Amino acid sequence: MDISIVGSGYVGLITAVGLASKGHNLVCIDVDKERVNSINRAEPPFFEEGLSEALRTHAGEEGNLRATLDYEEILGTQATFICVTTCSSSGKSADFRHVKQSTRTIGEVLRAKKDYHVVVTKSSVVPGTTEELVIPLLEETSQKSAGDGFGAGVNPEFLQESEALRCFLNSDRIVIGQFDRKSGDVMSDIYQDFAAPCLRMAIRTAEMIKFASNAFLATKISFINEVGNLCKQLGIDVYEVADGMGYDPRIGRSFLNAGIGFGGSCLPKDLEVLLHRFASLGESAPLLQGVMDVNTAQPLRLVELVRARLGDLKGKTLAVLGLAFKPGTDDLRNAPAVKIIRQLIQQGARVKAYDPRVMAKISEIFNGSLQCGQNVAETIAGSDAVLLLTEWDEFRDVTLYAGKTVIDGRRVLDPTEALRVCHSYEGVCW
Ligand code: UGA
Repeated sequence: MDISIVGSGYVGLITAVGLASKGHNLVCIDVDKERVNSINRAEPPFFEEGLSEALRTHAGEEGNLRATLDYEEILGTQATFICVTTCSSSGKSADFRHVKQSTRTIGEVLRAKKDYHVVVTKSSVVPGTTEELVIPLLEETSQKSAGDGFGAGVNPEFLQESEALRCFLNSDRIVIGQFDRKSGDVMSDIYQDFAAPCLRMAIRTAEMIKFASNAFLATKISFINEVGNLCKQLGIDVYEVADGMGYDPRIGRSFLNAGIGFGGSCLPKDLEVLLHRFASLGESAPLLQGVMDVNTAQPLRLVELVRARLGDLKGKTLAVLGLAFKPGTDDLRNAPAVKIIRQLIQQGARVKAYDPRVMAKISEIFNGSLQCGQNVAETIAGSDAVLLLTEWDEFRDVTLYAGKTVIDGRRVLDPTEALRVCHSYEGVCW
């Protein structure tokens, strides 16, 4: 099928490449000229495992994927996915301006289209948005009626950064929220070569599945962090507890890794948006509010541990290893490390940081008030304590920390080994 994707960010480009690999013809539409050129040169505009190879296969003269600035190219396709960002520039809240803007432009283009066309919201939008905002805007700008002039739907994504392409091609389920049967048929045709079960439902149900899934994952993390905080007081290893719980298939072991909490552009933002939705309807959400509160406090617990070890932080030199919100990405949005560093600097510490992927961005954020290391050994040399904040594989060799005071926020090291090799070692909640 000929498919257009509006927005070539993370979700848009992975969707485009994934669908191209199933034989569809893709055109990626973006307002950023540099991004468009980079896709057409088969150069990924951001780092993601496997993306570079996939673009080399599908982009370029002979390939079935190309990028353009021209929205009119929608006319040559049968379906359009809206994949623009819904994240504010701070990464902390939702911002539907781009969804509105791109929907308007899509509608204006569709005014001239004779054949049936389906518009699919793939950006994460709060339940109700497609019916209350996207479809009315499309009707207004295209001067056609949904179900008659065009089809509509929602197809949320469940990609995890750092393994997005693998997640897309091996998804557990394909969720299709359909305006009507005809719209849903086009959407499920697009996914006919995928092995995953295709679940078809009402539009707002599909939107809710996305938010409820992210809220549940966030709940698991805050739950295990809260349990971990108690375990630490009682001398119990929360990772052993998680392993023991995880054998129960009703619970499952994944997303029970205790530490400094969840970051990124999705879990914190989606939780916040959902809490707003509760509030706007006069509903309280004490459980999800608690999930948020635990996550806000968790990184600061690590700062307290540093103070307990070193006393007043004024003039102390701290080595921070790991800045990205998780390994395998160069993404700093809502990264717990940023919050921790900000506190340490405020308390007068000298911070030297190293991350294999995000050094340029971090010096921008801290505007000279932080030193950047070149590698692990050079960063930790002469420091009063080492803080492990992202679980990159290159940080896992315990011999790097011989004689050092180490505080681990992500269970990077095996505690038994670390206690043997380091001067002192403890985890944020173990
Ligand atoms: C998350 C969801 O996992 C995806 O299913 C979803 O599609 C995506 O958001 C989205 O809405 O687009 P992502 O933001 O890439 O994916 O990151 P995760 O792998 O979920 O990790 C989020 C944060 O939780 C990270 O900071 C990670 O370190 C932390 N985490 C994760 C824990 O602290 N403990 C765990 O056990 C797992």
